[in-house]
Amino acid sequence: MFNPFSLTGKTILITGASSGIGAQCAIDCSKMGAKVVLIARNKERLHQTLEQMEGDGHMILPFDLASSEGMKETIKDVVSRMGKISGVVNCAGISSVTPLKLITDEQLDQFFRANVYSAINLTKEVTRMGNYDKECGCSIILFSSIMGLCGDKCKTMYSATKGALISAARSMACELAQNKVRVNVISPGAIETPINAKLPHMADPEQRKKLEDKHLLGIGACSDISYACIYLLSDASRWVTGHNLVVDGGYTCI
Ligand SMILES: NC(=O)c1ccc[n+]([C@@H]2O[C@H](COP(=O)([O-])OP(=O)(O)OC[C@H]3O[C@@H](n4cnc5c(N)ncnc54)[C@H](OP(=O)(O)O)[C@@H]3O)[C@@H](O)[C@H]2O)c1
Repeated sequence: MFNPFSLTGKTILITGASSGIGAQCAIDCSKMGAKVVLIARNKERLHQTLEQMEGDGHMILPFDLASSEGMKETIKDVVSRMGKISGVVNCAGISSVTPLKLITDEQLDQFFRANVYSAINLTKEVTRMGNYDKECGCSIILFSSIMGLCGDKCKTMYSATKGALISAARSMACELAQNKVRVNVISPGAIETPINAKLPHMADPEQRKKLEDKHLLGIGACSDISYACIYLLSDASRWVTGHNLVVDGGYTCI
C-alpha cells in the first residue's frame, strides 16, 4: 500500500520516551514500523512505554542527557546493536514557573543542560561518520515550544532554552544538509503531560480556562505532536529542513 509516511526499516532514537509526548512518539513510531531506541533516566517508566509498543527489536537506553559523558561510546554501541540511525526525536526537556527574581546561575545551567546541551550533543554524536546511513540520510527533530516564540510570565528560563533550539536548528540545518542530514523543530502548544500537570496554568481551573481560550482548537493531545514527528522522520519530508513546525491549536495566530 502506498504510504509515504512509513517508518519501516528505520531506526529512530527518541529521548524523553519515559513520559508524555516522547512516550507517545515511541508508541506511534513503532506502529509505523520503526525500530525505536527509548532514552530517558527512569528505566522502569521506559519499560512501561515499551510494553505499549508494537513490533520487536526496540531498545531501552537509560541515560542522563544533562551530561555528555559517555555519550560518544553509548551511541557507537547503539549503532552496533541496532544498525545505523535514521532519525532522532529530541523530546527530553524540563520546565518550570520561576519568577525572574528567583532565577539562579545553577538553575539556568540546569535548564540549558537538560533542554539545549542534550539535543546539541546528541545531534553531534549521531551525525558522526558511520553512525547514520549516508545514502538514506538522517532526520533530526528538536523540541521547542510556543514559549520559544511567545512570552509569558515566569517562563524566562524555559523560553530562553526553547528559543535557543530554534536558532540552533537553522544553523545545524545549514551545516549538515551536505551530509544528507535534515534538522527541524517542532513547537507544540499546551499538551497536558507530567511536565505541566501540576503547574498553575493546568492545575488551577481559572488559569486553565484562560489557557484553553488562547488555543483556538483547545488543549492538545500527545498524538497531535507524535503525528508531526512521524511526518518529519519519514521520507515524505525529504525536502524539508531548517523549519520550525508550530503545532499549537492556533495559539500563535491570535
Ligand atoms: N507538554 C506541553 O505542553 C509542551 C508544550 C511545548 C513543548 N513541550 C516540550 O515537549 C517535550 C516533552 O514534554 P512532555 O510534556 O512530554 O514532558 P514530560 O512528560 O515531563 O517528559 C519529559 C521527558 O524528558 C525526560 N528527561 C528530562 N530530563 C532528562 C535528562 N536529563 N536526561 C534524560 N531524559 C530527561 C524525562 O525522563 P526521565 O525523568 O525518565 O529522565 C521525560 O521522559 C519537552 O521538551 C517540552 O519542553 C511540551
